Amino acid sequence: MDHEHVREVDPAVADALAGERDRQEQTLAMIASENHVSEAVLEAQGSVLTNKYAEGYPGSRYYAGCEYADEVEELVIERAKELWGAEHVNVQPHSGTQANQAVYYSVLEPGDKILSLELNHGGHLSHGHPANFTGQLYDVEQYEVDPESGYIDYEGLRDTAESFDPDIIVSGYSAYPRTVDWEEIQAAADAVDAYHLADIAHITGLVAAGVHPSPVGVADFVTGSTHKTIRAGRGGIVMCDAEFADDVDAAVFPGGQGGPLMHNVAGKAVGFKEALQPEFEEYARNVVDNAEVLAETLREHGLSLVSGGTDNHLVLADLRDSHPDLSGGEAEDALAAANIVLNGNTVPGETRSPFDPSGIRAGTAGLTTRGFDADAVEEVGELIYRVVDDVDSDDVIYEVGERVVELCEAHPLYE
Ligand SMILES: Cc1ncc(COP(=O)(O)O)c(C=O)c1O
Repeated sequence: MDHEHVREVDPAVADALAGERDRQEQTLAMIASENHVSEAVLEAQGSVLTNKYAEGYPGSRYYAGCEYADEVEELVIERAKELWGAEHVNVQPHSGTQANQAVYYSVLEPGDKILSLELNHGGHLSHGHPANFTGQLYDVEQYEVDPESGYIDYEGLRDTAESFDPDIIVSGYSAYPRTVDWEEIQAAADAVDAYHLADIAHITGLVAAGVHPSPVGVADFVTGSTHKTIRAGRGGIVMCDAEFADDVDAAVFPGGQGGPLMHNVAGKAVGFKEALQPEFEEYARNVVDNAEVLAETLREHGLSLVSGGTDNHLVLADLRDSHPDLSGGEAEDALAAANIVLNGNTVPGETRSPFDPSGIRAGTAGLTTRGFDADAVEEVGELIYRVVDDVDSDDVIYEVGERVVELCEAHPLYE
């Protein structure tokens, strides 16, 4: 990964790429939506397929010369079906947001109604936030987590569905640490004759490995990002029953996108092949076990965790109880200075702003990829707490930062 060709043409970009590679090697990627792909996925994504226009679908393209594009896209579809068991898969969305866009576009008209989880409670911008096209094009109502338990308030969701009468209910979240009961949400959708979109962007890998229940076969539509827990490089995916196949395909292309990013589709193929190996199940299990260790360590130090803990790859700490004067943004900055990269995050009942929220969110997918075991993750939890508890101490930040570099060097990412 010397980027020698880039260096010849453009030293400034080569320096930035080298800097980013070193940054990833020497810091802990704990942003819950991130992961590290293999060199095989990187190679596929950096391949000559970036040159190829392949508008359309395998066997039915608008341009000549698509035989290898077809081969790759057929492989990724086949592998996705094997991983998640969907009847139909579209692997062309450029990202998780585009995958959601395709679902909305396939079954909704402007002005139709979306019922989704509030952003501060763990939802996503593409589920109806006013700053997103969904909030501007559709009529949006939101459900919440229970303020006491931090779990989805399924009863409240059912009641809101009955009064709001949505056309689609969206489940699947950005910052929800617990197992989602897809059947409960499907029942709420059935009761009001609404579609159900389960957006498993974060937990695609956990679902594929069977360590989180699958919404495939329950919800009408399942969408995901391919660069998070599934570790297949940047992109999106839509899964649905055969009855929606044509509408979804037309909504992706020509509805919302032009030519597919075939180099990224190739990355998905390689990443999905890796995810079909038996080691991937062990990886996904370790991700969840490591998140539990992280939760336990932070809890032992007195941090309040939304929902009290985790069932998946992420932990969401609400700093207001233990450190009322510290914002998530300040914690994020101090941790970043100590080489621990996570994000300040809004929490249910947020009293600060989305730009400087009250919580921090941390995921274990990246650390687990680079081989962190329970002991190493416990130490990371201790280090996080040291910084959070003493954000103004340059000595603590320095010492923690040095220890993080040692941990990173013991768990190298790329050759
Ligand atoms: C639940 C959910 N849906 C969709 C997305 C959007 O994914 P992308 O960044 O691939 O557009 C995210 C991103 O984190 C997410 O958490």
